[in-house]
Amino acid sequence: MSEGAAPSLSEFLSLGWARLIAGATSPEAAARHPTLGTFGLSGWPEMRSVVLRRADPDAAVVEVHTDVASEKVSELRENGHAGLHVWDPAEALQIRVRGRMQEIPRKDLPEIWEKVPAHARKVYGGHPYPGYAIHSPSDHTDNPQLDRFAVLRLTVEEIELLLIDPEKHKRAVFRRVDGFAGQWIAP
Ligand SMILES: Cc1cc2nc3c(=O)[nH]c(=O)nc-3n(C[C@H](O)[C@H](O)[C@H](O)COP(=O)(O)O)c2cc1C
Repeated sequence: MSEGAAPSLSEFLSLGWARLIAGATSPEAAARHPTLGTFGLSGWPEMRSVVLRRADPDAAVVEVHTDVASEKVSELRENGHAGLHVWDPAEALQIRVRGRMQEIPRKDLPEIWEKVPAHARKVYGGHPYPGYAIHSPSDHTDNPQLDRFAVLRLTVEEIELLLIDPEKHKRAVFRRVDGFAGQWIAP
């Protein structure tokens, strides 16, 4: 987006989704590795890097893959409110996404699992479970298995964009409740 130009709200939203789609399809894109935020079980915020696996602007959903035994899944089962954060330096764009995260039905997993490359599968499984104390890194064994695979689908409720523009920063929030019509907000 050119410096100083005033995009329409819909152009701005399209830029945000385009960068998320780039993350889901290209390992080089900044949105490949968003930060996923959840409510920790002990009351502290929890954040971690994930790989963005799908971004669908029509349904306004994004997806990530994880080990069903990971702590984030326990947290999300307790409180499905979650956020994703991306800083995309190529576009000078910050993307903040808020929504409700759900595990997709287990019957839908085998088809997705078939497409996960062997080297990537090893992070879904293993002994002991993620987060358990071990004496040394070699005390963990890989054991990739579909039973430990989960796809987390974030149904987007809000997407907030901040464009860092030397002329004038541009910030807007788009909400599902009004069909993502969007509202400019002070940066
Ligand atoms: C670049 C990068 C990408 C990652 N991608 C994922 C991912 O797609 N899914 C995942 O569950 N963990 C991923 N991780 C590991 C998480 O950041 C985290 O350490 C792990 O999932 C345990 O988090 P939890 O205890 O909060 O569940 C990634 C880490 C890095 C550094």
